[in-house]
Amino acid sequence: MSTFKLEQLHNNRDKLRNGGGAKQIEKQHKKGKLTARERLRLLFDKNTFVELDAFVKHRCTNFGMEKAEVPGEGVVTGYGQVDGRIVYAFAQDFTVIGGSLGEMHANKICKVLDSALKVGAPVVGLNDSGGARIQEAVDALAGYGRIFYRNTLASGVVPQITAIMGPCAGGAVYSPALNDFIFMSDQTSQIFITGPQVIKTVTGEDVSAETLGGAMTHNSVSGVAHFINSNDEECIAEIRRLLSFLPSNNLHSAPMVETGDDLNRIEESLNTIVPESPNKPYDMHEVIGKIVDNGDFMEYQPYFAKNIITGFARIGGNSIGIIANQPKYQAGCLDVNASDKASRFIRTCDAYNIPLLNMVDVPGFLPGTNQEYNGIIRHGAKMLYAYSEATVPTITLILRKAYGGAYIAMCSKDLGADLVLAWPTAEIAVMGPQGAANIIFRKEINNADDPASIRSQKVDEYTSEFATPYKAAERGFVDDIIEPALTRVRLIDGFYMLASKRETRPPRKHGNIPL
Ligand code: HXC
Repeated sequence: MSTFKLEQLHNNRDKLRNGGGAKQIEKQHKKGKLTARERLRLLFDKNTFVELDAFVKHRCTNFGMEKAEVPGEGVVTGYGQVDGRIVYAFAQDFTVIGGSLGEMHANKICKVLDSALKVGAPVVGLNDSGGARIQEAVDALAGYGRIFYRNTLASGVVPQITAIMGPCAGGAVYSPALNDFIFMSDQTSQIFITGPQVIKTVTGEDVSAETLGGAMTHNSVSGVAHFINSNDEECIAEIRRLLSFLPSNNLHSAPMVETGDDLNRIEESLNTIVPESPNKPYDMHEVIGKIVDNGDFMEYQPYFAKNIITGFARIGGNSIGIIANQPKYQAGCLDVNASDKASRFIRTCDAYNIPLLNMVDVPGFLPGTNQEYNGIIRHGAKMLYAYSEATVPTITLILRKAYGGAYIAMCSKDLGADLVLAWPTAEIAVMGPQGAANIIFRKEINNADDPASIRSQKVDEYTSEFATPYKAAERGFVDDIIEPALTRVRLIDGFYMLASKRETRPPRKHGNIPL
C-alpha cells in the first residue's frame, strides 16, 4: 500500500477526532463539561474503545447544509469493555452543531442499539444535544422515532443507561425516558419537554432552565432521573459502578464479586436497632449498611419518595436489589410516588435476574384526599403487580410494622416471596393496635367508667396478642422468626438456597400492568 493512502487515513481520522475544533472544545470545558471523546475514555477500560461509523456523513442540503462540516455527524459511537465486559455506547458531541440529531446521527445510534441487542450487551448513551437538527426537519424527527422503537425492543433484554450531560429538550427526552436508568450531572444538564421560553409564552410562568429541568429537580421532584452526580467524571464512574451490579443481558446473571466481607458476620447491634416504642423512627439505611457486603449500597432515586429506599448491593458477593420502607420519612407509609419508585425498581431487577430483598416496616398506605385523587389505588396496584409477576428469588424480611394492604404490597408470602423472615419485633396485623382496639372494643370502651384506662388495657391486650410475628408464623405466612443479629447469615443462606429457583408463567402477549 502507498504511504499516501495510510497518511490519508490517519489525517482523516485526526480531523474527525478533533470534533468541532479547539474553540468549541474550549467552550465545552468552560461550561464545566467534558467532550464526547473524553467521556468515552473515562467510561471504558483503558484502550478498549472501538469507534464505529466515524466517517458517516449527513446528506442534508437545506439551509446551506451541503457545505457544513459535521465531523462524525455530531455523535461518537462504538463499543468497548467495562471491567472486561462488552458495552456499547454513544456520546453526543455538543462541539459539532450542538450535538443536534439528524438522519445519519440517528442511524449511528440505531446501529449501536441493533448491535448491542444482537450480542446481548448493555448500551450507555451520553446525551448532550440541542435536539432535532432543525435543518433536517422531518428526517430528524423520523430518526428519533427509530431510536424510540429500538429502545423499546431492547427494554428488558439489555440494560440501557442514559446520562444527561448537557441540554436534552423536546421529544428528545423520550429516549432517556425509555431507558432503565437516567443519570444527571448537577448544574450542567437540563431535560425538559418545553423550555423556559415556551413556558413563559404559553403559561406566563417564569422559570430558569435549571429549576425547570436540572438534575436536582428530576432527582427529587419529578422522579424522571435516578442518580445525580456533581460532575461528568463522577457521573461516568457511577455508571461503571452500576454496570458492575448488572448482567450484560436478560439471559445472564450479574457477575459475582469477591467482596472480602465475612459470610458468617454476626451483627449484635441489630438486636437493639428497632426502638422499643412503635412510634419512634430509626434509619433503615443503617440496617442495610450492617447487612450487605462492606456496607456498599448504590441507592436508586435517593432524593425521590424517601419513604421507600431502593438500590443495589451485594450479599455474599452476589448482586441483590433492595426495597425497604424508611420509618424516618412519613413513617415509611406507601404513597403514589413510593409505589411508582418501588414498582419500576422491582421490574428492573426482575428483568435482569437480580434477586430481591424486601425490608418491611410499613404502617400502611398514606391516607388523604391528595393520595386518593392522585390515584393511589392505580399506583399501589403497580407494586402488587410488579411483585406478583417477578420470578427472581425473593426474600421478605419483616422488621417491625407490617399492616393491612401495605403488608401484602411489600411482598408477603402470598404475593410470591420465596422466603419470609421476621424479627421478634415484627407486628403483622390488619392494622396498628390503637386503631384496632378502637374498633373491636368500641362498645366496652364507650360503656366503661374510665374509657381511657380500658382503651389502654385493650391496646396492650391487642399488642401482646396480635402485634407479633407469631400469629403469622402459626399459619406459615412467616417461614421463620430470627434473631436480628443473624440476619446477614440467614439472608446469605436464603439466597444461596434460592439461586437455582425456576418459575414460569402462563404464555401471553404481555400483561397489562396498571399505569
Ligand atoms: C441545529 C443547533 C441546534 C439544533 C443547537 N444548534 N441546537 N443546530 N439544530 N437543534 C447549534 C447552534 O446553532 C450553534 O451553532 C451550536 O449548535 C451551539 O449552540 P449554542 O446555541 O451556541 O449553544 P448554547 O448557548 O449552549 O445553547 C444550547 C441550546 C440552544 C440551549 C441547546 O442551542 C438551543 O436552544 N437550541 C435549540 C434547542 C431546540 O429547540 N431544539 C429542538 C427541540 S425539539 P454555531 O454554528 O452557532 O456554533 C426536538 C424535537 C424532537 O428535539 C422530537 C422527537 C420526537
